[in-house]
Amino acid sequence: MRVLSGIQPTGQIHIGNYLGAIKQWLLLQEKNECFFFIADLHSLTIPYQPENLQKNILETAIVYLAAGINPEKSIFFVQSDIKEHTELCWLLNTVAPIGDLERMTQYKEKSRQFKKNINAGLLVYPVLQAADILLYKTEGVPVGKDQVQHIELARTIARKFNQRFGKTFVEPKAVLAKMGAKIMSLNNPKQKMSKSLESQSYISLFEEPGEIKRKVMSAVTDTGKQIKYNPGKKPGISNLLIIYSLFSEKPIKEVEKIFKGKGYAQFKKSLAELLINSLEPFRKKRKELLSREVYVRETLKLGAKRARAIAESTMHDVRQKIGLA
Ligand code: TYM
Repeated sequence: MRVLSGIQPTGQIHIGNYLGAIKQWLLLQEKNECFFFIADLHSLTIPYQPENLQKNILETAIVYLAAGINPEKSIFFVQSDIKEHTELCWLLNTVAPIGDLERMTQYKEKSRQFKKNINAGLLVYPVLQAADILLYKTEGVPVGKDQVQHIELARTIARKFNQRFGKTFVEPKAVLAKMGAKIMSLNNPKQKMSKSLESQSYISLFEEPGEIKRKVMSAVTDTGKQIKYNPGKKPGISNLLIIYSLFSEKPIKEVEKIFKGKGYAQFKKSLAELLINSLEPFRKKRKELLSREVYVRETLKLGAKRARAIAESTMHDVRQKIGLA
């Protein structure tokens, strides 16, 4: 299967991004043809500091490598290095239904969050995402639940394009983790864990042990005492149970058993320890990579070269189909 996914270089990559997306990538890269990229063009649609962008891209690249993306197995690159993403985005804009774009949850949320900057890029954001996916004839897109709507739209756009211009694109499918596709915020378990919210709400992949402990211990829990999985009635504890289960690789039922008769504080203390230990290798690898900036940049350059060859070939076909060549 051909697989592709990306992350925006906006803020700290957290355990939600890891459990929902990156963890799947690591498994998929073993047996599939994978493309993983940094979605820098998408990140321009919300307020940002141009002078920090290059640093954020490099830090995101370090996250990918520290988490275990292997550039010998996967094609790993920066979106803006491949001009074909924006070219295809424009062409797909001419087939994407505007009503569908206006209905996108993320568009509505971002328009609410950034009232003073509702730019056209926010609206066509999913079309650029469709271009990312379709350019490489992607079959599977491993993402968290919040991105499923965008992948569905990419399918619609592929279908419409194929109907009008002849079979060109593959209709992609979202690949979701069985558990962990929607990790909730620590201080508001009714809301998704998000890098654009306050740092108290998430644990970054490189979080220092002291901070992990502080954040887990102050995570919002529910009334009652039992450590029981019940997302409707106990969203806080249920979210922590999912995180515990995924990092310990023990089923939730088993975790419930371990903590039967024990209080929230004891459970949280164990979870903090588990996270400190599980994230330790990422912190170590990051330190090492921070001193190897040249290697990281070279890796991205090489990845771009490999990606470009495929992107150019698709665009050659697309230009002919559409009547531009
Ligand atoms: P981004 O940067 O918001 O998030 C990166 C990935 O992390 C997943 N994710 C979560 N999973 C579980 N629980 C959470 N709380 C959580 N928060 C985020 C996201 O679903 C995503 O998989 N539009 C994309 C980037 C993108 C892309 C693409 C993805 C651009 N082009 C093409 C796939 C294919 C985004 O903003 O991801």
